[in-house]
Amino acid sequence: MGYDATFRVWRGDASGGDLQTFTVEVNEGEVVLDIVHRLQATQAGDLAVRWNCKAGKCGSCSAEVNGRPRLMCLTRMSTFAEDEPVTLTPLRTFPVIRDLVTDVSYNYEKAAQIPALVPRPREADGSHRMQQVDVERSQEFRKCIECWLCQDTCHVIRDHEENKRSFAGPGFLIRLAELDMHPLDVADRRDAAQEEFGLGLCNITKCCSEVCPEGIHLTDNGIIPLKERVADRRYDPLTWLGSKIGRR
Ligand code: F3S
Ligand code: FES
Repeated sequence: MGYDATFRVWRGDASGGDLQTFTVEVNEGEVVLDIVHRLQATQAGDLAVRWNCKAGKCGSCSAEVNGRPRLMCLTRMSTFAEDEPVTLTPLRTFPVIRDLVTDVSYNYEKAAQIPALVPRPREADGSHRMQQVDVERSQEFRKCIECWLCQDTCHVIRDHEENKRSFAGPGFLIRLAELDMHPLDVADRRDAAQEEFGLGLCNITKCCSEVCPEGIHLTDNGIIPLKERVADRRYDPLTWLGSKIGRR
C-alpha cells in the first residue's frame, strides 16, 4: 500500500542553502533514491543528485539520510516509520556543489598520492607465485566501490578541515594496508603510512566500518593490522638498534 511521506531535502550551493519540505508518494518496495527521482519528476525538476547504477555498486548516490551516511539506492523506505520525516543532506565532509551533490576530489587527490605496488622480480620460469591464503587476505579491500561514506563519517576530517592535508582517510588507509599485505609487494610503506597519510590520527572509533555498504571491516582487518606493523617496527629493539647502527 502506498502512502505520503514527508521529505526534507537540502537545496542550495556553495554559498548556502536550506531544507525544503515536500510531501511525496511512496510505494511498497521503494528505496530513498526512488523518492528522489519522483521529486525530480513531479515537484523539483532541478534537484541535483548523483547516481548511476541503482544497485549499490557504482558508489555515486551517497548522501546523509536522517544524518547517517548511506547509499540512497540501498536505503529502503521501510527502514522508516510512515509518519517519520526523512531528511536528506549532502555529505558533510566535502564541499557542496549543488543540492545533494558534493565535490569529492579530495579522495582522488589522496588516491593519486598512494605509492603504487612494487612487485618482486619474477621467478626463474617467469611466473609470479603467490599462496592462495596471502591473496585472500587483502581481497576484502578490493570490494570498495568508492562511495566515500567511510571518508565522510570519519571524525578526523568530518569536523576538521585542517586535518585533510595530513590524513588520507580510512578509505586509503585500507589501500595502504592492502598493498602492505600484498604477497608480491616489496615496498615498505610503514613510515609513509604514519607520517604522510596520518595513520596515527585514527583512534579506532570504527565508524568507517559501520557505514561501509560492502561490509568491509576497515578497522579490524586493515587499519589495526597496519598500526601493529608500524608499532612493531618502531618499538622492536633490534630494528631500532639496526637503524641507529645503519645511520653511522
Ligand atoms: Fe576514522 Fe575509521 Fe579511524 S572512522 S578514526 S579511520 S577507525
Ligand atoms: Fe550506484 Fe547507488 S546509484 S551505488
